[in-house]
Amino acid sequence: MKSRFVIYTLLLIFSVLFATTATVLAQEESIAIDPANIEQNQECFKCHGYSTFSYFNSNTEREVKQRMNPYFIIDSLEYYASNHRTFLCGDCHSSECGEFPHSGQARMEPKFSCMDCHAGDDTHSQYNFEKIEEDFHKSVHSSKHLDDFTCSLCHNPHTYKISARTNEKVADFILYDNEICLSCHANLSKYQLLTTKDNPNVLETHAWLPNQVLHFSKVRCIECHTEINNEILVAHNVLPKELAVKSCVECHSKNSRLLASLYKYQFTNKRSDLGFSNDAILEESYVIGANRNYYLNAISIILFGLVVVVLLIHASLRIIFNSKKRHE
Ligand code: HEC
Ligand code: HEC
Ligand code: HEC
Ligand code: HEC
Ligand code: HEC
Ligand code: HEC
Ligand code: HEC
Repeated sequence: MKSRFVIYTLLLIFSVLFATTATVLAQEESIAIDPANIEQNQECFKCHGYSTFSYFNSNTEREVKQRMNPYFIIDSLEYYASNHRTFLCGDCHSSECGEFPHSGQARMEPKFSCMDCHAGDDTHSQYNFEKIEEDFHKSVHSSKHLDDFTCSLCHNPHTYKISARTNEKVADFILYDNEICLSCHANLSKYQLLTTKDNPNVLETHAWLPNQVLHFSKVRCIECHTEINNEILVAHNVLPKELAVKSCVECHSKNSRLLASLYKYQFTNKRSDLGFSNDAILEESYVIGANRNYYLNAISIILFGLVVVVLLIHASLRIIFNSKKRHE
């Protein structure tokens, strides 16, 4: 008896251990990066990963230490967490960048755009890159006077990591996505890469919105500034400011537009699983008007139930009473 108990316990422990290792391994496999690539990229990171770099000046025969242009610094941790973490720098940049100083040729070389690789990309068809591009070309950022606006200005090719689709914490991807917009709308030098206009202060232009801090941490800029597009998860058509959502009921109502934007991923998955509607919102926050009141719902169901019971009792009493009457 005792030995059997010991065997069962051991089996149980082993299977738990096995399951945990398998999950950990499976997770690690998804981020596996060829060590040879890391070594090769280190040739670039030794300068582009730090605020200073050194090189040997053969004219003066001295080792020279200089500051790296801050815009040319790439955080290696962010790089190895990004969508393109398995890439060599040389997959997108000229091999001539391996020499220092970099040649003029390397500098003038055209850079890849996202669509150079992702147009007709069947392995990533779930993103629907074509539709995203179409949406982007309709947006204010892509109008004629902003010719130089590219996807890379919002999606840094070295650090962009899909977020809304994969991050389970809504608060996290709200922050991530809003930072993309604020990287220009709260940063004059990046904004002025594209225009000589003044950059209006976002806090001032949204002063009409009550409890602004709460709103900016609970919804994304794109909730109010894009046209909803059911073919893609993240709408890319940023509309002119006149068309931005200003009406409170667009969100604070039962058919909240948040279900088709912010909570789209959670919502579509939930809906197919459980047949629920604004459950996704309820889990993350209580948006006045958008969430049904469950206590009221429960009370009304109880009341309805009571009415049915009373009716049933009443009806059966009448049947019994009537049949008695007939027998008399
Ligand atoms: C010895 C230090 C050093 C190394 C090693 C180095 N770089 Fe650079 N890189 C620089 C400096 C300094 C600049 C800015 C000045 C310039 O453009 O020459 C720069 C600029 C760049 C630019 C921007 C050019 C432009 O103006 O658009 C790219 C792209 C680049 N490097 C890629 C790479 C890649 C890829 C590697 C690895 C294969 C690499 N670098 C290795 C120092 C280095
Ligand atoms: C998926 C393609 C891709 C990979 C991989 C990539 N880059 Fe880039 N890189 C680009 C593009 C595109 C630009 C131009 C960005 C822009 O103009 O907005 C760029 C610009 C740069 C610049 C100039 C800074 C800037 O923002 O204009 C440097 C420096 C640079 N890359 C270095 C590197 C290094 C070092 C690596 C490897 C660790 C690397 N890149 C890997 C696509 C890539
Ligand atoms: C040089 C070709 C190339 C360029 C340029 C490029 N990509 Fe990719 N991208 C790839 C490849 C290949 C993969 C698959 C990588 C993998 O699975 O390790 C990928 C993966 C992705 C993924 C999926 C990540 C995932 O985990 O499912 C996204 C999203 C993405 N890229 C977006 C972009 C965006 C946005 C740009 C422009 C800023 C861009 N890519 C530029 C080749 C490219
Ligand atoms: C004005 C800024 C902006 C521009 C320009 C832009 N995007 Fe995006 N894009 C975003 C934001 C914000 C997200 C949400 C990021 C996240 O959570 O993954 C996003 C998400 C994405 C995603 C992930 C969508 C998903 O289903 O998970 C892809 C792929 C993408 N963009 C590709 C592109 C391509 C290709 C271009 C150029 C044709 C482009 N983007 C231009 C802001 C922009
Ligand atoms: C690379 C910089 C950059 C990024 C990133 C960026 N914008 Fe813009 N945006 C601009 C510039 C520049 C203009 C001004 C265009 C003009 O009128 O000349 C603009 C215009 C706008 C307008 C139109 C204002 C009007 O006058 O009608 C809105 C709305 C807007 N952006 C929202 C967003 C949102 C939302 C995001 C994030 C998804 C975003 N922007 C990301 C640079 C940027
Ligand atoms: C609750 C909806 C809502 C949210 C969230 C929101 N906006 Fe707006 N935004 C508007 C409306 C409405 C206007 C037009 C205001 C007006 O005309 O008085 C506007 C105006 C703007 C303008 C044009 C300002 C000007 O006067 O030129 C920019 C740029 C902008 N928003 C960017 C952003 C950014 C970046 C974020 C995210 C940090 C954001 N918005 C979040 C609704 C919103
Ligand atoms: C883009 C969608 C959206 C729009 C438009 C919007 N809200 Fe909200 N609002 C939210 C969300 C999401 C919350 C956060 C709920 C939470 O988690 O507490 C919120 C919270 C609030 C709160 C705070 C509730 C509390 O618990 O403290 C008030 C008040 C409010 N909104 C009023 C308004 C008014 C007034 C307008 C119109 C001028 C407006 N909202 C427009 C989405 C929106």
